[in-house]
Amino acid sequence: MDVLEAIRAYRPCTQYQTRPVPAEQLKRVLAAARLAPSHHNLQPWRFVVVQDDEQKRLLAQASNRGRLIGEAPAVIVAFAVEEDIPVTIGGYISAYPLDVAVAVDHLQLAATSEGLGTCWIIDFNEEKVRHVLRVPEGIHPIAIVPIGYPGEPNGGSRPDGDGRKSPDEIIAYNEYPW
Ligand SMILES: Cc1cc2nc3c(=O)[nH]c(=O)nc-3n(C[C@H](O)[C@H](O)[C@H](O)COP(=O)(O)O)c2cc1C
Repeated sequence: MDVLEAIRAYRPCTQYQTRPVPAEQLKRVLAAARLAPSHHNLQPWRFVVVQDDEQKRLLAQASNRGRLIGEAPAVIVAFAVEEDIPVTIGGYISAYPLDVAVAVDHLQLAATSEGLGTCWIIDFNEEKVRHVLRVPEGIHPIAIVPIGYPGEPNGGSRPDGDGRKSPDEIIAYNEYPW
């Protein structure tokens, strides 16, 4: 599957089979995240893979999307190391979650190409996630990503206009027209 095919094929996965994700497949998905570009190549990301049932149960309690976290055979929690990236975007907004977001997108597209389903969850309680996974200060959970074989077919390749704004609504040339 090439990258455009993976982009079209990706849908947030809301049902997971219980069968485990083979370790080699998980490694390939994490390798894609590791290869993501980052500001000054600082790589301010860390990934914790949660497969232990009790840890997943506790993590599920930290989110309103707990069903997905509990159901998926594995959950990848992506963190930003704040001190690794003490810069702002354009001088006005902290940049530390940005690189992690790029890495998570790599991860999700790689998972899609492996036939795996994922869903990006930011609807969680930071303190609870920190407590369950024993995360030190200065490290911030950015995304919780359940990963596993989809419980049902995801509808296939996304057609044009599938819930997305039209090009005219979001793309312009030479000046900002909206
Ligand atoms: C940065 C980001 C955060 C998201 N957070 C959540 C979340 O907390 N809970 C959830 O159920 N889905 C979450 N999603 C999935 C989006 O809701 C989903 O991609 C969006 O509704 C578009 O759905 P579609 O891709 O099927 O059109 C998130 C997606 C992104 C990219």
